[in-house]
Amino acid sequence: MSAEAAACRRISVKPGEADAPRVEHADGVWRIRSTEAVRQILRERDAANQAGFNSEAIPEGSMANEPILFMDGEPHRQQRSKIARYFAPKTVADRYRDLMESRADELVATMVADGHANLDDVSLRYSTEVAAKVIGLTDSKMGPMSRRLERLFDQPAYDPARAEQEGRLRSTIRQLRGSLPMAWFWLWDVRPAIRERRREPQADVISHLLKEGYNVPAILIECVTYGAAGMATTREFISMAALHLLRNDALRERFTVAGEKERYAILHEILRLEPIVGHLYRRAEEGFTFTDGEETYAVMPGDLLDLFIRQANADPVTVGDAPLDVCPGRDLPRGIGPEVMSFGDGAHKCPGNALAIQESDILLTRLFAHPVRLERDPDLHWDDIIAGYALRNVRIAVG
Ligand code: HEM
Repeated sequence: MSAEAAACRRISVKPGEADAPRVEHADGVWRIRSTEAVRQILRERDAANQAGFNSEAIPEGSMANEPILFMDGEPHRQQRSKIARYFAPKTVADRYRDLMESRADELVATMVADGHANLDDVSLRYSTEVAAKVIGLTDSKMGPMSRRLERLFDQPAYDPARAEQEGRLRSTIRQLRGSLPMAWFWLWDVRPAIRERRREPQADVISHLLKEGYNVPAILIECVTYGAAGMATTREFISMAALHLLRNDALRERFTVAGEKERYAILHEILRLEPIVGHLYRRAEEGFTFTDGEETYAVMPGDLLDLFIRQANADPVTVGDAPLDVCPGRDLPRGIGPEVMSFGDGAHKCPGNALAIQESDILLTRLFAHPVRLERDPDLHWDDIIAGYALRNVRIAVG
């Protein structure tokens, strides 16, 4: 393969992913890699419920107010329509654009003055500040909060089998140690934000939850959900998009001269190729059917649906030739967005999608207005809960 061809390729390569069947079914578990089938399942209105992000580890009915990501059916639809205004394009432009631009200017100026940076630290700091504004976590210092959240997201997933094996005492000690980052996040960040908004409500998610009568633990859990959904994801995306631009000279040259529409097309195409959330899961509440090409499949109530987003996004039937290469402006079937399934689809489709792209574009256009060079190959890790990649030590020289 020539150096130019290699520069276009998917970076987050996971061994053993190639050549698996489009649809597999065994022992009540479906493994689905076709875009068409993934999209139909995500669009099932009430037949398929959320089963990802450890949602099934929480016993049903144990929380008065579930986080939005774990809700289903009518209560979920109602919450989504109520929060939609925080993410409407006009709100994003009016309320968050100035913050994004001024923070991006400051962060890039610091990188230029230092001559070097760890881009994954900068992208964490930046995405934390933007999401914090949407959520209403603005009454604590941003640097320490982004580090507290990083430690919080670094916890291993709760594993019932492991808890049983190691015995009650050791499991309790491990869980208590795991709860410390949550306790700090509550004390330093969430509590002052709630106190301030009880005094004076603002146009943000915490004020909305207080108005809806959410209790304090439910607000804390929702802040963690939004934090993980909005900060950790955008941080990875900014680092990955920068890495593609750094490795692919032709793409970087286009990005630096292009208008907003073409830059967004480049960013969406990178997100298609490198989805941050690698798998989505649903549990069938009722029986239903889905199709892939000529085939029709029948799902039984109780079946688990494991949706392989990395493969569905590189399905040649949908995306055409060279599915594992960056080719902005692909000719896609009607109804399929340029990022394919990277923001999900249907009821849970990411409400922060426009914000995430705009936010990434604002930082990257400012960064690539300067000469930027990669100092070393970054480390690529895989995360269990989102089944996605994490890029660390993205060391760059700037200016
Ligand atoms: C590149 C960045 C992002 C990616 C790749 C991403 C991806 C996703 C995906 C795949 C889902 C759907 C989960 C499912 O169907 O089970 C989702 C949901 C969600 N995202 Fe994002 N997201 C990003 C940025 C953001 C931002 C910036 C925010 C807010 C500040 C946000 C807030 C949410 C919320 C609240 C949900 C839950 C929605 C629901 O369950 O109804 N996301 N995101």
